[in-house]
Amino acid sequence: MSKIAIVYHSGFGHTEVQAKAVVSGVTSVNGVSADLFEVALVTDNPEQLNAYNAIIFGAPTYMGSLSAPFKAFMDASSKVWFNQGWKDKLAAGFTNSGSMSGDKFNSLVQLTTFAAQHSMLWVSLGQMNESSSPDIASGHPEAVNRIGAYLSAMAQSDNLPADQTPPSGDLKTAEQLGKRVAEASLRWQ
Ligand SMILES: Cc1cc2nc3c(=O)[nH]c(=O)nc-3n(C[C@H](O)[C@H](O)[C@H](O)COP(=O)(O)O)c2cc1C
Repeated sequence: MSKIAIVYHSGFGHTEVQAKAVVSGVTSVNGVSADLFEVALVTDNPEQLNAYNAIIFGAPTYMGSLSAPFKAFMDASSKVWFNQGWKDKLAAGFTNSGSMSGDKFNSLVQLTTFAAQHSMLWVSLGQMNESSSPDIASGHPEAVNRIGAYLSAMAQSDNLPADQTPPSGDLKTAEQLGKRVAEASLRWQ
């Protein structure tokens, strides 16, 4: 049995939809459970995440970097860092932004650095860009990894309610990230 925590921030619900897709991917794997935490619920007590085999972090990209409530959690986790409480756990991440780029690569780099400070092991996305095939238009909204990121999962949301965006391809990408981390966590134990 493996337990995975998904910790996320979402100001307006779009990254929350992405986080729920990650949960679906995790729970599609037998023997793996997922607990979803809105970041404010763990910021005061990040030690509660010590009980998990893997932690997947996610936040929207605001002003080219992770949103401030998520950064508050990162800073609060220095209590755990001091004792290296998450050492050798698996880690992965996801981010969502309004523009196709939106400088969100920087957010994933922030997360990988954060995971490295905790001596965690980063699980990459592991999915090809389906829309690089000649049969599917570049960036097609139903294509898995249409944005073509490999460090972890990206999504792009239009300026519409969260039940309409991000598109299905980005949610499938998030789901497959959750599945990959779940499978890796069983192998890693
Ligand atoms: C304060 C703020 C800063 C933002 N900065 C960026 C940005 O740097 N790049 C971008 O593409 N979108 C940016 N956006 C748009 C959000 O990333 C986008 O609306 C996203 O879907 C919000 O996700 P959420 O609903 O989970 O908060 C910003 C939005 C806000 C509110």
